[in-house]
Amino acid sequence: MTPPPDEHSVRIEPHGRTLRLMPGQPILEAALSAGLNLPHSCKSGHCGSCRARLLAGAFHYPNGPPLGITAEEAQRGQILLCQARADSDLTVQARLIASVADVEIKTLPCRIARLRPLAPDVMQLWLRLPAVERLRFHPGQYLDVLLENGRRRSFSIASPPHDSELIELHVRRVNGGGFSERLFGAAAGVGGGAPLEAGSLLRIEGPIGQFSYRQGSDPVLMVAGGTGFAPLKSMLRHVLETGIRRDLHFYWGARHTQDLYEEALALEWARRHPQLKFTAVLSEASAAEAAHHRAGWVHEAVLADYPQLARFEVYAAGPPAMIEAMRTHFPRHGLSAERLYFDSFDYAPDARPTPTAS
Ligand SMILES: Cc1cc2nc3c(=O)[nH]c(=O)nc-3n(C[C@H](O)[C@H](O)[C@H](O)COP(=O)(O)OP(=O)(O)OC[C@H]3O[C@@H](n4cnc5c(N)ncnc54)[C@H](O)[C@@H]3O)c2cc1C
Ligand code: FES
Repeated sequence: MTPPPDEHSVRIEPHGRTLRLMPGQPILEAALSAGLNLPHSCKSGHCGSCRARLLAGAFHYPNGPPLGITAEEAQRGQILLCQARADSDLTVQARLIASVADVEIKTLPCRIARLRPLAPDVMQLWLRLPAVERLRFHPGQYLDVLLENGRRRSFSIASPPHDSELIELHVRRVNGGGFSERLFGAAAGVGGGAPLEAGSLLRIEGPIGQFSYRQGSDPVLMVAGGTGFAPLKSMLRHVLETGIRRDLHFYWGARHTQDLYEEALALEWARRHPQLKFTAVLSEASAAEAAHHRAGWVHEAVLADYPQLARFEVYAAGPPAMIEAMRTHFPRHGLSAERLYFDSFDYAPDARPTPTAS
């Protein structure tokens, strides 16, 4: 059957998969719907993680050139799959991340098993899947909570794969947030919805994302900003609790001590595991806080301690500004861009429902 005129397909190499694109559908969205876990993070054109090479065909960006790609990269044939819309059938060469490509992305119902405030604006959330289901994921990956009308919200998985009977999330309260406000007892956030409590039913899709722990023996620096602690907690527990021998230095940046919501746990890990160092860095430290903590920006603290980064692997998660600062400054200190793994906690504008791709 001949497809309608503005319906195109995309062939994704090296996976060798051809996917049907609904009119106006971003290529990344079609790939994820089809279970193809392509590298990505923000889904809003900012972070550059979904960069691929255009091998054939024509496309456009509906909102103009996205910020996550330079004019030079675009000229070299690079394309951001989360924003690009096909104007013809396309062939693109995506990056392949073997370890995360092998896990299946599932859509599952789950119940909130427990809620616990970790800080005035951070809620720890435990999700219980149906008894017959298990979510296979890599430490560092995230999931999407599926809301009404096709809206979705991304949250990193804080529990490690070896302890995944309940799935742990750390959710920061966002003013007017369509999802997070409901966890803090608000009647309805943006777009409506009842308050959420233990026993409430949710739908999730995951695991998603290429941010995941890689095996190796080089020393590792981990850098969290705020709730960026969540995916690093999964990685740290994975390394420490499965007996991996590797030197780690974990930095956690926050505004005040109350935002270091599991500092006692990080200190306890460092006390029990000589391979781990822990440093907290406060960006808005009061005089009393500065007496017991480093003050300043977390990425600057890392560079002050490690001006030569060539032998390190770096994992970072948190606010886009922190990730951007690291992507700019760390390569100037010898870190190869391929050894800086990150998840930028951008937020995507509400999307329309995800159509099913063939
Ligand atoms: C890969 C990934 C992983 C993430 N993991 C986590 C996590 O583990 N924990 C966590 O707390 N968050 C995480 N986030 C961020 C989270 O997905 C967003 O903050 C989300 O929008 C919150 O949903 P909400 O419904 O409460 O607010 P929304 O309804 O989405 O937001 C309401 C309004 O607030 C603004 N807004 C939303 N989020 C932010 C923000 N972060 N900073 C500033 N303004 C904002 C927007 O203008 C938006 O219109 C992650 C994001 C990504 C991309
Ligand atoms: S730019 Fe596409 S996922 Fe961030």
